[in-house]
Amino acid sequence: MCGIVGFLGKKEAAPILVEGLSKLEYRGYDSAGVAIINNNEIEIKKCKGRLKNLENKLEKEPVKGSIGIGHTRWATHGEPSDVNSHPHSNGKGTISVVHNGIIENYLKLREWLISKGYEFLSETDTEVIPNLVDYYYKGDLVDAVIKATGKMEGSYAIGVISTNEPDKLVAVRKDSPLIVGVGEGEYFIASDIPAVLNHTRNIYLLEDKEFVVMTKDGVELLTEDKEVVKKEIYHVTWNADAAEKGGCEDFTIKEIHEQPKALKDTMTSRIVLGEEIKLDKITLTKEQLEEVDRVYIVACGTAYHAGVVGKYVIEKLAKIPVEVDIASEFRYRDPLINEKSLLIVVSQSGETADTLAVLRDSKKKGARVLAMTNVVGSSVSREADDVLYTWAGPEIAVASTKAYITQLVAMYTFALHIATLKNTLKKEELEAIKAEMIELPGKVERILENKEEIQKFASKHYMEKDMFFLGRGLDYAVAMEASLKLKELTYIHSDAYAGGELKHGPIALIEKGTVVITSLTQRKLRDKMISNVKEVVTRGAKVMAIAYEGDTEVEKTMDSVIYIPETLDILAPVLAIIPLQLLAYYTAVQKGCDVDKPRNLAKSVTVE
Ligand code: M6R
Repeated sequence: MCGIVGFLGKKEAAPILVEGLSKLEYRGYDSAGVAIINNNEIEIKKCKGRLKNLENKLEKEPVKGSIGIGHTRWATHGEPSDVNSHPHSNGKGTISVVHNGIIENYLKLREWLISKGYEFLSETDTEVIPNLVDYYYKGDLVDAVIKATGKMEGSYAIGVISTNEPDKLVAVRKDSPLIVGVGEGEYFIASDIPAVLNHTRNIYLLEDKEFVVMTKDGVELLTEDKEVVKKEIYHVTWNADAAEKGGCEDFTIKEIHEQPKALKDTMTSRIVLGEEIKLDKITLTKEQLEEVDRVYIVACGTAYHAGVVGKYVIEKLAKIPVEVDIASEFRYRDPLINEKSLLIVVSQSGETADTLAVLRDSKKKGARVLAMTNVVGSSVSREADDVLYTWAGPEIAVASTKAYITQLVAMYTFALHIATLKNTLKKEELEAIKAEMIELPGKVERILENKEEIQKFASKHYMEKDMFFLGRGLDYAVAMEASLKLKELTYIHSDAYAGGELKHGPIALIEKGTVVITSLTQRKLRDKMISNVKEVVTRGAKVMAIAYEGDTEVEKTMDSVIYIPETLDILAPVLAIIPLQLLAYYTAVQKGCDVDKPRNLAKSVTVE
């Protein structure tokens, strides 16, 4: 969480830092700040609230200088306030730091520094860093940062400037993302690529504990022992426009509408009729697959929900037992991972702390790891044995939409690939699934064109206190994702239940007027699900259903029905989720919620 930026060049730093932060606000938006070296002094401007507040402040109190660092915060230690905002400095004001991550041993370090005479102003863990750097500073900033980070436990991406060496910016990462942008006589650091894309497409993707030393002469990367690291430049080919709203009201609706393209891009050259599935970055062989006795899919949030679909699909098509779990639970429950395990981590950002920790633990235990991620060069993509990229393009809105459906497609693609290797699927079945997958983008397009019913429903129910989602089989997986979308975008309390579980407790929540939403895409389970719906209707619930076109009979039981094009049951989650994303979106808009940046959330959860 939190976004950091840094700039060193000839231009004024303030506007460049603020513009960079605007691309990172999705990572946190409790407060923002910049520190810039001006006439051998560090000037800091920071304040609580959105970046806009900082922009207003800088307009009234401009800061000159062409080397600086900036931060947009998602509070972990200490409430959102001016004083807890970054950058933080040492007492003398000679060293300033921006930080993304958590210093887990900060209390110990703070007490130790206090015993050495240091004083602290904020409640943050970050404030120990400039003071540690100060303690170790003996005439070389890089040495001091290396020594300071040697004492720090936890995760961090930091940018450091100092009046002692006013022409230098030092940065380093450990378990938190950080990239370096290399321009013409100007250099950047940032938590994510879009923050520098208006200035350069040449990027260094850093490994943990690679120290960045920027001066006007260039960028040097060093190890902890100060050996020079030689690294290839990664040239970004995607367009900066992809990370702009492009005339849409907000990123959320833009990304919802980008889903047909995201699906196509994720399938292009992989799913071709009559041809083998091509997965360039997967080297898992038939022989290695034969050794696998269990697949584990581990992820967080929406990516976990894609994993739930993945379990159904892989078991059905490839006949391998699959366990699916939430990364923060999995990592602490001593899972029975070994050399026969195949771990699939799913992560849009590729930087989620718990997911990354699971990847690392599982590799230590000998498992083979496949990463499904949307970000080229992200930590999971670099550390996994195999990678399956989802080509959703940059996802900026906090609520994940296009990443989710591309994760579903990645699951189908991988399931078909291993089913082919294992010979568990007849050629005609394989081709039939592929043919139907190719139809999905067009069908999603059609659903997006028919949003009026959803808008009507949203304007009628936006003041509800609770909404429940019900489903069976893959419709239950969709219900979980729909419920998460509704909660995070609208703040309406919502839960998802498996249809058959209702009688075991949840039905006690149903009373006159309770809103229940269901989907009926699993043909084998449709009648059973309708019986469950009747149980809640009898108790006064108002029910909206997602059903296949032509299934008009459901109107007898439901208050309203949203129709989606027919498809194969296993592929239905891709279509069924679309109206439910729109429902969450339009309900949030009706309520006046900030759809791109829901309260208390951040896009990338890079802390535990
Ligand atoms: O980047 P990741 O896919 O690892 O992120 C996982 C979750 O934090 C993410 O899906 C989150 O639940 C979204 N806000 C859901 O819309």
